[in-house]
Amino acid sequence: MSIITNEDKIIFGSEIFIPYIREEKIQARVKELAEQISIDYKNKTPVFIGVLNGAFLFLADLIKNINIDCEIDFFKLSSYGDEKISTGKVKLLKELNCDVKNRDIIIVEDIVDSGLSIKYIEELFSKYKPASMKVISLLLKRDSLKYNVKIDYIGFHVPSKFVIGYGLDYAQKFRNLRSIYVLEE
Ligand code: IMP
Ligand code: MG
Repeated sequence: MSIITNEDKIIFGSEIFIPYIREEKIQARVKELAEQISIDYKNKTPVFIGVLNGAFLFLADLIKNINIDCEIDFFKLSSYGDEKISTGKVKLLKELNCDVKNRDIIIVEDIVDSGLSIKYIEELFSKYKPASMKVISLLLKRDSLKYNVKIDYIGFHVPSKFVIGYGLDYAQKFRNLRSIYVLEE
């Protein structure tokens, strides 16, 4: 069980997470990103593809601020398991439901770390022959990138530390937090 202190720190076993990006700041940035996408995709009907589970809140808040026609779908890859470090392997858990051939697709991620997941997704989706493919990630750990991937829209750059909240989990917990917290080292 976790404990939230009155300084808004989260104590989970022997680990402490401290506030890093507040709800208001996240919401303001999500709105900016949505406004930019609405301009960039004017007269188009993009399909937002959320990468489960982490991107579900970001996708929801993002599309609430999109003012052009759009559609959504979800795609799921295996996660970190209950660890803080990636296994370096990717497994497909849920395929797309919609046909993205000739569609403008926007892949929605919560965080890009090594870039392995995005590289896997881009390689797979390019086989489906979309008209265009872009990537948006709320967070980017630029210093952790190991693969050559281009993130078209970035919410915030973050250091190579473990973060939780706003969709991001640690052992499946903390996705419900409205702000993002970082592991205190
Ligand atoms: P990548 O494949 O190494 O780029 O890792 C991407 C995925 O790992 C993300 O979609 C997240 O689900 C997860 N991930 C990476 N860093 C963190 C973190 O700091 N907290 C929680 N999940 C993370
Ligand atoms: Mg993810």
